[in-house]
Amino acid sequence: MKIVCVVGARPQFVKIAPLVRVLKKKPMIDLLIVHTGQHYDELMSAVFFDDLNLPEPKYNLHVGSSTHAQQTAKMLVGVEDVLRVEKPDWLIVVGDTNSTLAGALAAKKLRIPVAHIEAGLRSFNEYQPEEINRRLTDHISNVLFATSSSAVQQLITEGISSKKVFDVGDIMCDAVGLVKQNIKMSGVAKKYDVTNKAFILTTIHRPENTDDKERLQCIFESLLEVSKHYPVLLPLHPRTTEALKRAKLFDRYDKHLKIIKPVSFTDMIALNTMAQLIVTDSGGLQKEAFYCGAPCAVLRDETEWQELIDLGCNKLIAPSRDTSMADAILESVHMLNVNVANPYGDGHSAEKIIDILLNVEGLEA
Ligand code: UD1
Repeated sequence: MKIVCVVGARPQFVKIAPLVRVLKKKPMIDLLIVHTGQHYDELMSAVFFDDLNLPEPKYNLHVGSSTHAQQTAKMLVGVEDVLRVEKPDWLIVVGDTNSTLAGALAAKKLRIPVAHIEAGLRSFNEYQPEEINRRLTDHISNVLFATSSSAVQQLITEGISSKKVFDVGDIMCDAVGLVKQNIKMSGVAKKYDVTNKAFILTTIHRPENTDDKERLQCIFESLLEVSKHYPVLLPLHPRTTEALKRAKLFDRYDKHLKIIKPVSFTDMIALNTMAQLIVTDSGGLQKEAFYCGAPCAVLRDETEWQELIDLGCNKLIAPSRDTSMADAILESVHMLNVNVANPYGDGHSAEKIIDILLNVEGLEA
């Protein structure tokens, strides 16, 4: 069996690591990686392939940054060319990025069956590019690997046949388990100059938070306030660095927050485990925090990972000018997530996914 897997953005490199590991033990399956080039900086891409021991992509489409239409269009053309040559039995896409949608659409039009990992998530915010990508991808996929029972229910509510939907849990949980064994806490603490359970780990990168100057400023002013109480370590996405520099705000915040370049997945998991609190707008980090036992303040208006809010492990804080935003973040330090049952499976999603793909013959493609 030949599988082509299309990836392009940082979280997708992480999510395919458990699949690669399982497939090492299954020589009858040939996995071929297509990197769209959506993320291209060394620290956003190559570092992850090294860190997670991923095989070199057979193809890199080098699409780079541009508008959504241009980026997605270039990916569509590139992926179609690859699929015409490779003629795989399955196309796997992960998550909700432009690379996800382009990969799924190119394959579907060529009648190559599409499997979507991380299906059924919804923010119900139609203005969010990821929401458009995930809805469209789900509705053209032949097999949908959902992360939880509520994701399964959502897909069925939208009219997708339950025969195509499998609750396999969250593959990110597998990925965290994979790297946790190899972490050397003391080395990471020294490298980033942090003390165990005495700092806040933050990431901000979503366009809704970075592209609106007022909202960006609100978030960073709150972080400044928070940094009077705890050191704030901030591995910054290039989009956010650019936005702060454009707004001539970078130096103001750089003085008081520990702003650093993006870090590897292994270091990020170590930092998650050591942090007293995670503050983020990232989808992935909301769950990594949970898997590493840290409470998490989510700086967004809504989240796809509602279960963690309902369980009281994570708290949603909508960015606003209100000065209470810093207070709300500081209060989150006291939330706990110990002894909470994982709503996203048992950390063995990758095995389940491969078993299902090997056995779904007869399912409508
Ligand atoms: C993308 C995904 C998002 C995911 C995120 C993880 C979409 C619509 N969004 O957002 O779901 O959470 O990746 O990081 O697909 N840039 C660089 N170097 C890079 C990559 C990006 O400088 O290697 C800068 C460019 O200025 C670019 C901007 O970041 O314009 C945005 O990059 P893009 O890939 O469009 O989306 P992300 O914000 O990274």
